[in-house]
Amino acid sequence: MSLDLPSIRAPERQLQPAPEDRLAALERVWRRFVDTEALLKRGGRVAEVTPTHYKVRGLSDFARLGDIVEQRGQAGTRRGEIVKISREEIVVAPFERSADAGIGDAVFRRGPLAVAPHASWRGRTIDALTRAIDGGPPLIRGDDASSAALTTPGAMARQRVGTAFMTGVKVIDIFTPLCFGQRLGVFAGSGVGKSTLLAMLAGADAFDTVVVALIGERGREVREFLEDTIGDSMAKTVAVVATSDESAMMRRRAPDTAMRVAEHFRDQGQRVLLVLDSITRFAHALREVATGTGEPPVARGYPASVFTELPKLLERAGPGAEGKGSITAIISVLVDGDDHNDPVADSVRGILDGHVVLDRAIAEQGRYPPVNPLSSISRLAGKAWSAEQRALVTRLKSMISRFEDTRDIRLLGAYQGGVDAELDIAVRQVPLIYEALAQSPKDRPSADPFSDLARHLKSKMNADAGD
Ligand SMILES: Nc1ncnc2c1ncn2[C@@H]1O[C@H](COP(=O)(O)OP(=O)(O)OP(=O)(O)O)[C@@H](O)[C@H]1O
Ligand SMILES: [Mg+2]
Repeated sequence: MSLDLPSIRAPERQLQPAPEDRLAALERVWRRFVDTEALLKRGGRVAEVTPTHYKVRGLSDFARLGDIVEQRGQAGTRRGEIVKISREEIVVAPFERSADAGIGDAVFRRGPLAVAPHASWRGRTIDALTRAIDGGPPLIRGDDASSAALTTPGAMARQRVGTAFMTGVKVIDIFTPLCFGQRLGVFAGSGVGKSTLLAMLAGADAFDTVVVALIGERGREVREFLEDTIGDSMAKTVAVVATSDESAMMRRRAPDTAMRVAEHFRDQGQRVLLVLDSITRFAHALREVATGTGEPPVARGYPASVFTELPKLLERAGPGAEGKGSITAIISVLVDGDDHNDPVADSVRGILDGHVVLDRAIAEQGRYPPVNPLSSISRLAGKAWSAEQRALVTRLKSMISRFEDTRDIRLLGAYQGGVDAELDIAVRQVPLIYEALAQSPKDRPSADPFSDLARHLKSKMNADAGD
């Protein structure tokens, strides 16, 4: 059965639109009325309800995967997304947590979700459906048509990655320096310090716009992240938030919305930083939605579609086409039970151009950020270091490696100075290097980490010599 009803839509409220915005709005209304498709709404009825999904009969012939539908029930109008289509029925995952659909409720197709970013979104916090959640005025919508035309440039059309930038976080800028358009993963177990490091990196001065996607975080952490750690950079930041208590569909949508916003600013020629915390929680949301449609699990409960969605999202980051800007992506990856071979971590690692590993043992020693420089790699570091810096980093890594390899022996008291000159230097200098690399979100970003490190070592050595 299908229902054809006239479209009744409330006019979109806007914040004192400029004259040209008003003209554009008028044109949109006019178009809606001359377009006969928009005058009709395709409808069906709810036939089955589960806690996470509901099925609708009568819409199969018009539905497309990813389309938004509107369900009108006792509790009012609710929106959801089509996640499966069969000849007889479609499966909808609702955006609201409470599955309050009832048998027989009318469901109307609304078409794809249009994310139309606008320059005024900077400084704002929005949800996955681009509604303001920061208590501010409603968002101004950008141009639908140009947003719909945003695409990922083909491999050969892309600029090459090559210009380095400073993040201000010393341990990253020394050991795993980054370039514009790079995709970096921060891998760690729970509570080790991923979000804090990501927020510090989001403060990097080098970017025109920062898009922060917070997926599946606890509500309390969102304010801490945005207000305490990002702080002053918030003016050029768009935050897209789907907290852990929101539906799987909202958590699944939010990274896409964030990427769309990043793509918009990239196509304006800007250097955009996309920070995503965390990709694992996005994978959990994908799993929840996919298993609800009956997709079988293939690896640790994850259905196969999860492993096609992850690269699809991450491939959209990177350098833009010639003449456009770039999207540099920094994403956090939760490694369940500190198991670095977790299927999501594995699949994501292959797509990225670098990974930073945070170690619980380092955090337990109180050394923050708990980056393990020996297991962290930036594939573009070669383009960022000078020959001198590269040689210095190699030397630092070999000293740290000797120091860590002999930690147990030294703890047992089996280490004697004067036997191995290299080890003696490492034992003296590595604790000082660790001290110099320590940084908390409250510390000022470092403009020249190599000089800062040299200065710290020199002052400590001089102090020791003076004793
Ligand atoms: N740079 C830092 N300086 C000082 N303390 C830090 C730093 N980074 C992390 N911490 C400490 O570690 C705690 C956990 O950090 P954070 O919330 O960033 O971890 P997480 O890996 O994101 O955790 P989750 O897996 O729960 O999301 C913080 O509350 C803070 O006490
Ligand atoms: Mg976190």
